[in-house]
Amino acid sequence: IPRTGGLSVNGQGSRKVNGVSTNGHGGPSKASEHHSPGNFHNSSMNGRHSPSGDINGHRRKKARRGSLGATQENIDVQSGGKFSEIQEQRKLLPIAQGKDALLEEIRRNDVTILLGETGSGKTTQVPQYILEGGLADKGMIAVTQPRRVAATSLAARVSVERNTKLGHLVGYSVRFDEKNGSDTRIKYLTDGMIMRELMSDPLLSKYSVIIVDEAHERTLRTDLLISNLKSIQKTRNQPVDAKGKGPASHLNPLKIIVMSATLDAEKFSKFFAGAKVVYVKGRQHPVKIFHTAEGQNDYLEAAMRTFFQVHNDQGPGDVLIFLPGQEDIESLNKSIQLFANQLPQERMEVLTCPMYAAQAPGQNSKVFLAAPTNTRKCILATNIAETSLTIPGVKYVIDTGKCKEKQYLARDSGGGFDTLLTKDITKSSANQRAGRAGREGSGMCFRLYTEDAYNAMPPMAEPEIRRCSLTSSVLQLKCFGQDIQELEFMDGPDLDSVISALKTLYLLGALDKQKQLTSTGRDMASFPLEATYARVVLASREYGCTREILEIVSVLSASSKLFQDIAEQRDSAAEARRALRHPSGDHLTVLAAVRSYTALSSNPETATRSARRQWCDRHYLNERALLEARDIYTQLRQTCSRQGIDCNVSCGERDEPILKALAHGLVQNSALLQPDGASYKQTMGRSVVKIHPSSVLADKKVPAIIYNELVYTNQIYARGVSSISKSFFNTIPALNQRQA
Ligand code: CDP
Ligand code: MG
Repeated sequence: IPRTGGLSVNGQGSRKVNGVSTNGHGGPSKASEHHSPGNFHNSSMNGRHSPSGDINGHRRKKARRGSLGATQENIDVQSGGKFSEIQEQRKLLPIAQGKDALLEEIRRNDVTILLGETGSGKTTQVPQYILEGGLADKGMIAVTQPRRVAATSLAARVSVERNTKLGHLVGYSVRFDEKNGSDTRIKYLTDGMIMRELMSDPLLSKYSVIIVDEAHERTLRTDLLISNLKSIQKTRNQPVDAKGKGPASHLNPLKIIVMSATLDAEKFSKFFAGAKVVYVKGRQHPVKIFHTAEGQNDYLEAAMRTFFQVHNDQGPGDVLIFLPGQEDIESLNKSIQLFANQLPQERMEVLTCPMYAAQAPGQNSKVFLAAPTNTRKCILATNIAETSLTIPGVKYVIDTGKCKEKQYLARDSGGGFDTLLTKDITKSSANQRAGRAGREGSGMCFRLYTEDAYNAMPPMAEPEIRRCSLTSSVLQLKCFGQDIQELEFMDGPDLDSVISALKTLYLLGALDKQKQLTSTGRDMASFPLEATYARVVLASREYGCTREILEIVSVLSASSKLFQDIAEQRDSAAEARRALRHPSGDHLTVLAAVRSYTALSSNPETATRSARRQWCDRHYLNERALLEARDIYTQLRQTCSRQGIDCNVSCGERDEPILKALAHGLVQNSALLQPDGASYKQTMGRSVVKIHPSSVLADKKVPAIIYNELVYTNQIYARGVSSISKSFFNTIPALNQRQA
């Protein structure tokens, strides 16, 4: 890595957690007692020492706590009187010291790689610096994020900092939602959205700077983007000849900035032909790390006990708990609230703030606000709080050591699918999580796993391209005439997953035998949906049930599940939902639920927000999923009109057309009843599956099923199941061919 003048090249070694551990209270062999999640060992994470010459030579003053949060919801309040205060805070961010040096580097180089501690101001400040420095006069600045919530909430924050209304100077664009206009100069978007923009603008010519943020996450889409950016830049930045003419002279040159908190900088630098790496020194105060003496079987219980231990024993400071997913967050949230209410009056109060990707924009706004006096904030978050969003006020971190990770399960027959699995985190995540406790002062991190477990963690996660389904990406690339096997990647995909993606696309009719894109394939790619559901929407045209299919697919594409499923409440939930149950299975039950919910609005007695919420609670339905589905529905209708599909065509009371249309997309997710009468054998694979206990078909025997997904526990379950007649199969070409 080249050393840059005035900027520092920070040794990667300095980010290691100090391995020395002294025994905490008690011995390692002693099992946990009452309010203890196990005895903690203690080791400490020292502030990262970096060599002199950082772009900001010294530690900044302690950040003012809280009151900085910005979301669409509180944006108007924020942008009023607080403006000058916010400008002061901007100047105090670690990155501010290096502003001029950084701009100079960006001006001089086509590609800059910027590494800096979480919270140092990369995501919110760098785009503004570029704007102020006049480095993007010929086009917009794009900032990509792997997660929608990060894109929307950071855009909101930056528009507050610019004292403008969101959607004007600063905007965002995420799947199913966007806010930007002709005056937008800084646009936060998900890596998926910018890949979509490639379809209509193959050189991304409306941007003059593209910032690839959180690059360390190595999502499939970030990797695809980086691969495309390299060749786009080559075209756009071609040198102009002596006469001022050149093949690219009419194009505005492109600058690329790759940013991250933890990044294998050398790898990125190498990919971009030795690009400059610039380091911002962040503030990292010492964090004392505790490990449990023994592994914990129940991380939720351990997390709760640890929280109350901290709450009882430790001084002021907010607590951040890292959990794998939404269900765990909701369940722990309930338990903590319940216990907190039983605490003696004189105790500090507890304010819980859940934070996860599926939350609607604005819902997590309170997380950024300072806790009221005599109150301890307890933030329950997924790994979204690891590096994407910084929450002020955190002094204590409780790390369950778990996360949810997309994992591709290949099938022996070709084809395959992604599932979300709860997994142990990596060392890099564990260190980031611990680091969240030391942003404003020294802190503590309680790991709910042993030090040996930490030592056994892999250093970092495998890039998604090596472990996710490539189906949608292969289709998208085909639309811009690219072949995934011919692209230059930092890490190339496995041949097996490429073959399996091609096979799926062939079965869906998106590719022909020569692997050429068909018109169906092109139409599928225009929908912001998974390939299977896009196929279902197209099939709905043939069967005259587009209206119903859009209603169902909208729910299936929402980020949270419609039917709440808690094992202990399954019977009561089934009972409560009796009126919605459809004998054919879960897809039509979804439709019944959406329709009943929509009907509430036309009755004055049930049209109020609280009445609708109560109705959802009573039926064990997740209202958030319904609200999100409504937005998705609107978007899908727009895509349909663009594609010339009439979205009002309805099949009325008939369910057969709907099931047939679904079967066209779910060809690979179909199975036939086995002679044992309890399990089903996949039509395109060798697995034997059972119907998930949450399904309305759970105890039924039907000759053939289609399903949305497989869930792996002690056995393989099909979830989101409908019964279809065996004769349907014969009408689906892909299945017919298979049988032939
Ligand atoms: O990208 P990086 O992690 O380097 O930092 P950032 O996201 O630009 O955040 C800079 C500062 O803005 C942090 O101190 C955040 O706490 C603050 N911020 C905030 O208060 N509210 C937001 N919605 C976003 C950022
Ligand atoms: Mg950031």
